[in-house]
Amino acid sequence: MFDVTTLRKDFPILDRQVHGRPLVYLDSAATSQTPQQVLDAVDRFYTHYCANVHRGVHALAEEATAAYEHARGRVAAFTGGDPRGVVFTKNATEAFNLVAYSWAMERLGPGDVLLVTQMEHHANLVPWQLVQRHAGFDIASVPVTDEGLLDLDVFDEIVGSGRVKLFAVTAMSNVVGTINPVAELAQRVHAANDEAVVVVDGAQSVPHMPTDVHALGADFLCASGHKMLGPTGVGMLIARPELLERMPPFLGGGEMIADVTVQRSTFNEVPYKFEAGTPVIGEAIGLAAAIEYLDDLGMDNVRAHEEQLISACIDALTGIDGVTVHGPQDAARRGAAVSFAIEGLHPHDIGTIMDREGLAVRAGHHCAKPLVRSLGAVATTRASFYLYNTPDDIAALVRGIDATKEFFGVRNVR
Ligand SMILES: Cc1ncc(COP(=O)(O)O)c(C=O)c1O
Repeated sequence: MFDVTTLRKDFPILDRQVHGRPLVYLDSAATSQTPQQVLDAVDRFYTHYCANVHRGVHALAEEATAAYEHARGRVAAFTGGDPRGVVFTKNATEAFNLVAYSWAMERLGPGDVLLVTQMEHHANLVPWQLVQRHAGFDIASVPVTDEGLLDLDVFDEIVGSGRVKLFAVTAMSNVVGTINPVAELAQRVHAANDEAVVVVDGAQSVPHMPTDVHALGADFLCASGHKMLGPTGVGMLIARPELLERMPPFLGGGEMIADVTVQRSTFNEVPYKFEAGTPVIGEAIGLAAAIEYLDDLGMDNVRAHEEQLISACIDALTGIDGVTVHGPQDAARRGAAVSFAIEGLHPHDIGTIMDREGLAVRAGHHCAKPLVRSLGAVATTRASFYLYNTPDDIAALVRGIDATKEFFGVRNVR
């Protein structure tokens, strides 16, 4: 296990004050903080070998290309994928759009079902809806139970129809933290229809637990660098290369071609066919440094650290009068996003008072409106943890809740 006190020194931002109070950062599910090692790697790129990749014969271009391709290899090794199946995108959202436009648009049609779940982030809903307008398939959804788990009876019923051609599911909910049994679900989808593909949203799981794309049964896995200690502006699609080979390009332009005439083009090999224009070079290099940082800590250790925090957080919050924690109450079944309600208070009011206390929590629908609606709410307050959080942060959260209740005159302050 790593030493959090030592590790926190790698994150310069954690030393800052907010409204005169020490920052307590509990919003890593939205964007994580960046260690000095990542800042240094990005800085080194811009100060020592900034150049475009794959095009130049000069030293800088070769160094930049080597570092960029090293980053691709690092993502592949981190997720158990094949480097030829790793496409750098702007974020997870763009990775979903790529699969929607290049796979679903081509391969799903009337009579086919694209299955999602009620706990998906909008990034794993809206792209399918946009494509459905052209392709005419049906969209079905797996509901969420009162405990925040997927309703597997409904899942089995829909999958049993044999019509599901694409199943898109999050490995970990960004609102209620649920860890879904993706491998088991993927196995059932593939068994029911050998043409079906499984698209896994790893935006919340890849940063927080060990990932093996094969063990998950994922044909496509999408994630974002900025949630796993990396820079903003880089995401990844980890796909089976043979699927990418069968897909038309998503975006067109330089770099993704083999040959071009005024009338038509032929395309580069995968994954370059899907990286049109100058790619996210500095960002991918920063992401590689982030992955190195995570690998050094060990993802099993990251998960173990967070499981302890989640367990302590749920115990602490459920002990406060008027506070309800949404989703699974068992830390083993959930990730580090903890949404809660305080009876009689609006999440935006809670977030505002917490901010005055130096606490960065998230209030809103978290881009998962169908799920938040199923909780009977329009918004929740969410505290989310990462490897740099400590039990002191949970104590600060509890103090923040007390302060909020006191501010609004809610009774039963502890
Ligand atoms: C579960 C989940 N999926 C997808 C996304 C989209 O990530 P991005 O905004 O980086 O594209 C997020 C971001 O919050 C998320 O939490």
